[in-house]
Amino acid sequence: MVEKTRDLEPVVAPAQGEEFYAAADLRATMAEEMGDGWDERYPGWRERFVEYFQARQSAGQSQIICARVDGNIVGMAAVSLVDDYHGHVRGCKAGRVNAVYVKKPYRRQGVARSIMYAAIRWLKRNGCSVARLNSSKEGVPLYESLGFQPRREMELHLDTIQETVT
Ligand SMILES: CC(C)(COP(=O)(O)OP(=O)(O)OC[C@H]1O[C@@H](n2cnc3c(N)ncnc32)[C@H](O)[C@@H]1OP(=O)(O)O)[C@@H](O)C(=O)NCCC(=O)NCCS
Repeated sequence: MVEKTRDLEPVVAPAQGEEFYAAADLRATMAEEMGDGWDERYPGWRERFVEYFQARQSAGQSQIICARVDGNIVGMAAVSLVDDYHGHVRGCKAGRVNAVYVKKPYRRQGVARSIMYAAIRWLKRNGCSVARLNSSKEGVPLYESLGFQPRREMELHLDTIQETVT
């Protein structure tokens, strides 16, 4: 991967201290922008978000990556090691990228690209051979520009299944 020159030169680094709460705020803004109110749907999720990522980051299993401009957080992503049998059995560890978000005034200036480079570097340093994510419609050009390709993952919402399925 040849890294493209950054336009805005954000400072990209893992969240520290209170920044986990700022990351939760950004995640809430992202959900709102996508028409989803997490505070109403998932009461208490912010505390669980902070608790989860503080613990996982300390254990080296996840990282909240923040992009700062003039000291303010303008973008983020969460990157995590995936614990599944493939990683152990086939020796090909996978990583997952979630919650890639850049505040509106800072878009199209290379901020998400810088965050994604940091995420990919972290996954490679941690022995991953593949990175996966679910993309929003808006995220597709970003991920394609980095070389991500679609794959055939399927899902089933289990609460839609009758109890007669045993
Ligand atoms: C998607 C998102 C993270 C992109 O952030 P960004 O900082 O604007 O992206 P970048 O400036 O780093 O873009 C890097 C490249 O991605 C592509 N790209 C990014 N946004 C694009 C858009 N809206 N239209 C077309 N291409 C786009 C371009 O190739 C761009 O390079 P270029 O500007 O040199 O042409 C941002 O628009 C966002 O937060 N959207 C709402 C949340 C969301 O959908 N997140 C993805 C969740 S999976």
